[in-house]
Amino acid sequence: MPTTTGSPTKAKAIFLKDYPEGMPTSSLFEMRDVSVTAPQEDALLLRTVWMSVDPYMRGRMNPHIKSYIPPFSLDHPLDGGAVSEVMVSNHQGFKAGDYVVGFSGGWQEYHVSNGEGLQKVDGGVAPLSAYLGVLGMPGITAWAGMSQILNPVEGETLFVSGAAGAVGSLVCQLGKLKGMRVVGTAGSKEKCQWLEDEIGCDVALNYKDYPDSRALTKALSQAAPKGINCYFENVGGMHLEAALNCIAFGGRIALCGMISQYNNKAPEAGPNNLVNMIGRGVLAQGFIVSNYMHLVPQFVGEVAPLLAQGKVQFRETVYEGLAKAPEAFLGLFKGDNFGKAVIRIGPDRIA
Ligand SMILES: NC(=O)c1ccc[n+]([C@@H]2O[C@H](COP(=O)([O-])OP(=O)(O)OC[C@H]3O[C@@H](n4cnc5c(N)ncnc54)[C@H](OP(=O)(O)O)[C@@H]3O)[C@@H](O)[C@H]2O)c1
Repeated sequence: MPTTTGSPTKAKAIFLKDYPEGMPTSSLFEMRDVSVTAPQEDALLLRTVWMSVDPYMRGRMNPHIKSYIPPFSLDHPLDGGAVSEVMVSNHQGFKAGDYVVGFSGGWQEYHVSNGEGLQKVDGGVAPLSAYLGVLGMPGITAWAGMSQILNPVEGETLFVSGAAGAVGSLVCQLGKLKGMRVVGTAGSKEKCQWLEDEIGCDVALNYKDYPDSRALTKALSQAAPKGINCYFENVGGMHLEAALNCIAFGGRIALCGMISQYNNKAPEAGPNNLVNMIGRGVLAQGFIVSNYMHLVPQFVGEVAPLLAQGKVQFRETVYEGLAKAPEAFLGLFKGDNFGKAVIRIGPDRIA
């Protein structure tokens, strides 16, 4: 028996008009009317409440590079993580009025789902938008990089680039909870202040104060006088070079992202000091969060109580309305967003 809370026949969705070269611009995005189709048997019609913009979406705008996730089609709305309300359910696992988080539904007001990958959320521990950030994909990324790759030890020094972002800010806090010395970088004085005053970083460096890896190395070596034992890499480029200059013997590196390179038109020269890894016995491992989804219960079991107890905090930059989604996305590459960028698409009836 289907359950329903009523739904429209037309809705808005955002399309990519062309694939960008270099830094994308707002003219590449277009909002269009699309038909809202009724869900078939075992399917759901979902109304998007919150959507996420994430750096990986830039990779999906490149049709030429083979990646772990296929490129966006120009013929369909863009897609991405979202928290949605079930409007019509022909699926026995969900009923109208449920709220769910999943990897689709972003960039559009309504979509049909077969229920795969959807998790019910209730807003009990944190607002629904947090399931796109600290309790969602970026949170699992931070937790997995720390617990499954870096294996931090009390007293060690952790360096986190992109520290004021969705992933980085949780990494810093997990490091502090582990008893580490934590050094982070971010792109503004205000973000660095927040990292030191609220997030607990021992030192936060504004990377824009340092013109090259040599200057950043000098600052980093002062902030991490015993060397860096663990590096959580979100940025790449001069950050990686500076980290490799300061890495301690037996250092570990979790290669999570390299956002400074996502809009490059041509490949950038690699770090000139990889040789440091040999003598210092450094281990570096890349990872993709989707390979750790089986650990979600463990992640939630650890991080949700920390959030409820106020031992972990998060910050969001909230954009209002679907039309703002391109601006929020472009802001990822300009440092406009503080913490996790989320877009409110429609009323959030739980909040
Ligand atoms: N491996 C995985 O499975 C996985 C999963 C999620 C995310 N990631 C990666 O993790 C990293 C962080 O993701 P997130 O979701 O937490 O994003 P985010 O940090 O919330 O947002 C991106 C931030 O990157 C910084 N940034 C942008 N361009 C930069 C540049 N050229 N140099 C230095 N910093 C720059 C900006 O902050 P500033 O103001 O500080 O410049 C911006 O706010 C990204 O590299 C992303 O691709 C990987």
